[in-house]
Amino acid sequence: MAKKRNIIVGQSGGPTSVINSSLAGVYSNAMERGFHKVYGMLHGVQGLLDEQYVDLSTQIHNELDIELLKRTPSAFLGSCRFKLPEIHEDREIFEKIFEILNRLEIDSFIYIGGNDSMDTIKKLSDYGTITGQPQKFLGVPKTIDNDLALTDHTPGFGSAAKYIGASTKEIIRDALGLTYHKPMITIIEVMGRNAGWLTGATALAKTEECEGPDLIYLPEADFDLEKCTKKVRALLKKKESIVIAVSEGIHLADGRYVCELSGGADYVDAFGHKQLQGTAAYLAGYFASEIGCKTRSVEFSTLQRSASHMASRVDIDEAFMVGGAAVKSADEGDTGKMIVIDRVSDDPYMSSAGIYDVHRIANEEKLVPREWMNREADYVTKDFVDYVKPLIQGDYQPIMVNGLPRHLVLDTKRKR
Ligand code: F6P
Repeated sequence: MAKKRNIIVGQSGGPTSVINSSLAGVYSNAMERGFHKVYGMLHGVQGLLDEQYVDLSTQIHNELDIELLKRTPSAFLGSCRFKLPEIHEDREIFEKIFEILNRLEIDSFIYIGGNDSMDTIKKLSDYGTITGQPQKFLGVPKTIDNDLALTDHTPGFGSAAKYIGASTKEIIRDALGLTYHKPMITIIEVMGRNAGWLTGATALAKTEECEGPDLIYLPEADFDLEKCTKKVRALLKKKESIVIAVSEGIHLADGRYVCELSGGADYVDAFGHKQLQGTAAYLAGYFASEIGCKTRSVEFSTLQRSASHMASRVDIDEAFMVGGAAVKSADEGDTGKMIVIDRVSDDPYMSSAGIYDVHRIANEEKLVPREWMNREADYVTKDFVDYVKPLIQGDYQPIMVNGLPRHLVLDTKRKR
């Protein structure tokens, strides 16, 4: 009997509001190409090791489900932050994974994730090649942080940037209306770890009717608290409401994260990343006592990566495109690679899917170039804004039920 051609897909790392659009792209393309079954790993490779997976045809029944999936934030299949050991450190774990893949007659293994997740694709494809396994391993880019190398940008970034730009405008407006709290300093904290792409996106708020934030601090430059305080004092002489955007990852010249100054950042994940949280709260407390005025901290936290009601159409479409492109590439024999997005033109904005060796991407971090920050490193330049703008365009209306967006959620009764 001919061997079945099955595919397995997983999601890993911090979710985005469009990560499931990539899953929908994988599923739709695999069906079109005549794959027999599409399995979903539950909680990525960590779940797979526990034999936790689902046949996606038990979850996605029709076109409406595909449309709902594209609009559902967070990882539909569940995520993980799981670091595979080096091959020479623990071959057993690889043997176990490949035993499961061979038993399920898996032809292609697709992993939707960021730089840490591409480490998994790299190791599995290396092991597969060394031991002559039949599977192909493809990565699909995903991260709100936009810090993956060799791709113009990552799915998830555009929608998070759109939410951040819009919310920053709203926060600025709110603060301006509070005549009873003048002067006032508002500090907005944005995710992104060591990359300032998302924090820079607060500059999108600068529009015809909005001045935008007053200061923007990215983690690519050392943060000088004294210098910042001086700037704030000077600004307060000119205006009564100041809004400052800071990355969760800003750090002092000695390397300490600002959020660590208040005792945060204790938790460290499998990839050695500290949990960064509390930067804005620390600065709000600092300015309140140092300057003696009303302060407020706003942490966008998980809202910035789950606000699918504010998703960018460009982002949802590209997320779908790269999911489908990974299936096509695997089907055509590629392995050990990640799909990238190539920007074809800015006006009109056009992009296409390309492909790169995952060894050049895994564990690398693409940071905001110094020339896209101003001289003082407290704002981003027009080039930065021009780069982001096309990625936030277009809407993807949620499917509303009783006034709220409807999501597609895993039917756990049908999981293995
Ligand atoms: O890597 C994506 C990201 O959203 C980072 O911007 C952030 O630091 C991190 O994930 C937070 O992850 P978690 O939700 O696991 O704490």
